[in-house]
Amino acid sequence: MKPIIILAIESSCDETSASICADGKILSNFIANQTIHEKYGGVVPELASRAHMQNIVPVVNAALSSSNQNLSSVSAIAFTQAPGLIGSLLVGAQFAKSLALSLNKPLITVHHMQAHVLANLIDENNKPEFPFLCLTVSGGHTQIVLVKSPLELEVIGETIDDAAGEAFDKTAKLLGLPYPGGPLIDKYAKEGNPLAFKFAEPQIPELNFSFSGLKTSVLYFLQKQEASFIENNLNDLCASIQHAIINILMKKIKLAVKQTGIKNVCIAGGVSANSSLRNTLNEHGIKYGWKTFIPKFEYCTDNAAMIAITAYYKYLANDFSELNVSPTAKATW
Ligand code: KG4
Ligand code: ZN
Repeated sequence: MKPIIILAIESSCDETSASICADGKILSNFIANQTIHEKYGGVVPELASRAHMQNIVPVVNAALSSSNQNLSSVSAIAFTQAPGLIGSLLVGAQFAKSLALSLNKPLITVHHMQAHVLANLIDENNKPEFPFLCLTVSGGHTQIVLVKSPLELEVIGETIDDAAGEAFDKTAKLLGLPYPGGPLIDKYAKEGNPLAFKFAEPQIPELNFSFSGLKTSVLYFLQKQEASFIENNLNDLCASIQHAIINILMKKIKLAVKQTGIKNVCIAGGVSANSSLRNTLNEHGIKYGWKTFIPKFEYCTDNAAMIAITAYYKYLANDFSELNVSPTAKATW
């Protein structure tokens, strides 16, 4: 039988990515990162859209040629439909729709947050059985998702204010670090003491999260210190902030396991690239008898491979879209 070949495109924020998957196996995954935003301390939407316009053709070509595929061998075209920056989403959506129209191939829309979760299904030799819990931690979202099947997902907890990635990026900014600060906090924290400083802990009921108080607590703490304090204590500050964020996340995932009785636990999203979160999840797995799963590093931050794997399951379920579909910045499940 002919393999199901998906060409997937991701352009929801500041990474332009294209991936090819054949029968659920990722053959290629190309990502063009946009460094232009670093000096602005955050993603500038207009600049992101323009960079996507420049990157999309080379990235799609690279994904096709490195997987020895061509446009005629593709079974369907998939793209991230929501959520994200609307100007960025429009570039990927319009490109995918034009390809589907000109090639007369089916079109598949993908929810970016569902795709982060399903990144855990990419590795055939190490993937969770259903049902599983996924702590999805990205720059825009923090959710606990109960996953009954690839297409049956329920958000059972989420942040009421900032996302975990924002907590990393905003506190990093207070420390004078460039955007995105998450990977830098991770790096400096490796040399620091996580118990050096203590910050306010949120008291949020059930499975929801809050991170804005942590940012304020770090801000007030720093305002009381001398000018050279950050420079002299950067490693300890990073380690303590990271420890506080991971503590908040792990408390809630522990509660979710208790409430649902589900012991297959995954993490996903950009913050799941954090080395200490990865270690802490695995330690919890050993301590509490959970089976833990973490996507490979390159499938944690935004990438089109996760869009491709999600689209593959939607293809199997005949879940195709009309050509008049539009992207949306916000999206509920
Ligand atoms: O999933 P993602 O690439 O984009 C969104 O969908 O938002 O997540 C980006 C977020 C940023 O906040 C970034 O700082 C954070 O993931 N991040 C990290 C690390 N790598 C990326 N945070 C902490 N430690 C890391 N190693
Ligand atoms: Zn993302």
